[in-house]
Amino acid sequence: MDNVTFRVISAGLGDLNDLQRLERECFPLDAWPLLDLMAVLSLPWVVRLKAVGEAGQMLGFVAGERKPLEGVGWITTIGVFGAARRMGVGTALLLACEAALKMPRVRLSVRASNHAALKLYERQGYRQVALWHEYYYGGEDGVVLEKMICQND
Ligand SMILES: CC(C)(COP(=O)(O)OP(=O)(O)OC[C@H]1O[C@@H](n2cnc3c(N)ncnc32)[C@H](O)[C@@H]1OP(=O)(O)O)[C@@H](O)C(=O)NCCC(=O)NCCS
Repeated sequence: MDNVTFRVISAGLGDLNDLQRLERECFPLDAWPLLDLMAVLSLPWVVRLKAVGEAGQMLGFVAGERKPLEGVGWITTIGVFGAARRMGVGTALLLACEAALKMPRVRLSVRASNHAALKLYERQGYRQVALWHEYYYGGEDGVVLEKMICQND
C-alpha cells in the first residue's frame, strides 16, 4: 500500500462516531460501550489524540491517563483502521501519547495473542512487567508492558 501522509492532533467529542467505528473494527470482542467512548473523549484528565489523513479523516486513535501517585501513565486504548495499518500510524500515536502523558514510565496491557501490537510495543522499548490471568473477555491473559521514559525519575 502507498504511504499516507498523516498528522496526530487532539481528539474530542466530535470524533464519537469515528471512534465507535474504529473500536468495533479493532476490538470486535470487547469494544468499549458508547458511554466509555464519550468519557474518553471528554474527561479533562484524559490524553486523547487522533491520527488524521490529508482529508482530515480519522486513521487511528490513542488515549492515556496519568497516575501521578504511582509515577505511571497508562495507555488505555490504541487502534488504527485496517486500511491505514503498517504505515507508522500506530507508532506515531503511541509516541505522541507517551510525550503528552509526561510521566517517567508508561504502561499498557495487551491480549497475549495480539502479536501485531506486541511487536509494535517491543520495538518501542516496552518490556513485560506482569501478566493478568484471564483479564480479557473470553478468558485471555493480559500482558502488562512498561516503558521507561525518563531513567532519572
Ligand atoms: C496494533 C496496531 C495499533 C498497530 O498499528 P499500525 O499503524 O499498523 O502500526 P505501525 O505501522 O506503526 O507498525 C509498527 C511496527 O509494529 C509491528 N507490527 C505492526 N503490525 C504488525 C503485524 N500485523 N504483524 C507483525 N508486526 C506488526 C511491525 O514491526 C511494524 O513495523 P514495520 O511495519 O516496519 O514492520 C494496529 O494493528 C491495530 O489497530 N490493531 C487492532 C487494535 C489493537 O490491537 N490495538 C492494540 C491493543 S493493546
